[in-house]
Amino acid sequence: MVDDAQGAQGAQIDAVMTKVLASGKYRQILPNLVRAIVRRELAAGRTPKEADKATRSKLHQVAASYLGGRMWYDAWLAESVAARQESEEALRRALREVMGRHASTRERLPVLDAFYATTLEGIEPPRSVLDVACGLNPLAIPWMPLAPGARYTACDVFRDLMAFLEPVMGLLGVRGIAAWRDVVGDPPDDEVDLALLLKAIPCLEQLDTKAGRRLLDELNARHLLVSFTVASLGGRDRGMIAHYDAHMRALTAERPWRVKRFLFETELVFLVRK
Ligand SMILES: C[S@@+](CC[C@H](N)C(=O)[O-])C[C@H]1O[C@@H](n2cnc3c(N)ncnc32)[C@H](O)[C@@H]1O
Repeated sequence: MVDDAQGAQGAQIDAVMTKVLASGKYRQILPNLVRAIVRRELAAGRTPKEADKATRSKLHQVAASYLGGRMWYDAWLAESVAARQESEEALRRALREVMGRHASTRERLPVLDAFYATTLEGIEPPRSVLDVACGLNPLAIPWMPLAPGARYTACDVFRDLMAFLEPVMGLLGVRGIAAWRDVVGDPPDDEVDLALLLKAIPCLEQLDTKAGRRLLDELNARHLLVSFTVASLGGRDRGMIAHYDAHMRALTAERPWRVKRFLFETELVFLVRK
């Protein structure tokens, strides 16, 4: 009986998941993440139709909503290759343009020149970086004070994004690894000098309220660069700053870590030394 019930539930999960993955908007998303969300929605008593709707809405919220429409990865790769042959300045210009196509990196563009130079100033140039829920942030590698030939592992849930990032990172002087991975259900355990959790915690906490705390505690990194958006239409949002300051204090309470705080026009950043 139990096997039958589990089999029926498994078939229902598969059916909803297949429908969600068939839609153009979610086709590139990691099936394991889709499965985890569908399973939870069905387990909460939703009908398959309701679970389908709730899953799409969650995937939009945590991933698809950040993308600026159609992503022209092949063209962007070709443009980046050509720009690199032209000059360092042309390459940076091309990378900035592409970063404008993901809401998170777009918001960082106005402060990009100072962002990594300021926040990473006090530490040894990292030889290994783990970019958790990376979006298009690996394109900012030329702005990061990394050790020559550093290893850079980037994780996100879009297959086509990861297929683009791997060759792009090769252009940027790092040993790049693009991992198509759900960092909530399957957290990375790479040992690294620096892990980036940029604007990732509030997003991942929408999938699992404990995700932020777990990643901070368990990522195998000497330093963590953690950030939160504080940009609103009218500029910096004081309420958001207070909210994320308090959230970060709660996440790091009773941990023997050193935490440095930086406030940029669009982003509140913490460098954590574990
Ligand atoms: C707010 S954006 C931050 C992007 C990047 N860190 C930055 O600051 O530019 C959140 C990113 O998390 C990714 N994401 C959402 N859920 C994820 C998961 N379970 N595992 C890995 N990445 C995920 C989304 O695709 C999106 O690119």
